[in-house]
Amino acid sequence: MNINIPLICNERELRDKAKMLREKWGFLGTHSDSFQLHLLPEHLALEQVDDPKQGLVFVDFVSGGAAHRRKFGGGKGQSIAKAIGLKSGVNLDVIDATAGLGRDAFVLASLGCNVTLVERSPVAAALLEDGLERAYLNLEIGGWMQQRMQLHFGSGYEYLKEHQTDVVYLDPMFPHKKKSALVKKEMRVFQGVVGADLDAGDLLDVALNAARYRVVVKRPDYAPFLNDKKPSMSIKTKKNRFDVYVKKAIPANKS
Ligand SMILES: C[S@@+](CC[C@H](N)C(=O)[O-])C[C@H]1O[C@@H](n2cnc3c(N)ncnc32)[C@H](O)[C@@H]1O
Repeated sequence: MNINIPLICNERELRDKAKMLREKWGFLGTHSDSFQLHLLPEHLALEQVDDPKQGLVFVDFVSGGAAHRRKFGGGKGQSIAKAIGLKSGVNLDVIDATAGLGRDAFVLASLGCNVTLVERSPVAAALLEDGLERAYLNLEIGGWMQQRMQLHFGSGYEYLKEHQTDVVYLDPMFPHKKKSALVKKEMRVFQGVVGADLDAGDLLDVALNAARYRVVVKRPDYAPFLNDKKPSMSIKTKKNRFDVYVKKAIPANKS
């Protein structure tokens, strides 16, 4: 989906930054009655103007849900860690080719993976960059985040054609039922801007070529396998499934 989205800024001291962001990402300077971005002193945020109840969407790695999950989320015992193949003493490079708001990538990086986050939507990439820049400055997590989380704006398909990595992680937007209670408010707003990733099937083959050890695809529990391709195994969570396509065992001393 390619929506021209405005970036609004009412703060005098942020006007130069707003101009720079409009030029960098192609955002407009006018108001909209559907979606718009706000450059606020605390962060860049996305608003669904015609449904304000949904609240503002922004990226926060430092506090809130991300911090809680980092501290109490179960570490390497989490399903996503098992799907990726994380074990103690193993260091993995991961390409997250559908980075979105970076939540899964953050979990993987907080568990020690080096993650390249690839995102093609300018709105998602701008929100992600804003969240990363603020987190990089944080005393507690900034050091390892700078080392382990890098954003690449562009097509995951093209990026995977040119790069090799240990594991490729894919979480394309599945066309959700609009009012489904299973879909978090935040994701509903986000999906309104990004759209359903109808070309997601193309990513699997290129991901299988790029990955040395495995490809992990996150799917809602009711969704069919990506490309109808049966995985080597599936790991189920409450609402989702990680379909794991194993190419080769990860060496126990992989560093
Ligand atoms: C469901 S969201 C990912 C959510 C993410 N896992 C998280 O934890 O925040 C899917 C994202 O993938 C992006 N995307 C889909 N296909 C892509 C592609 N071929 N290249 C780059 N980004 C892609 C979409 O723009 C969207 O932001």
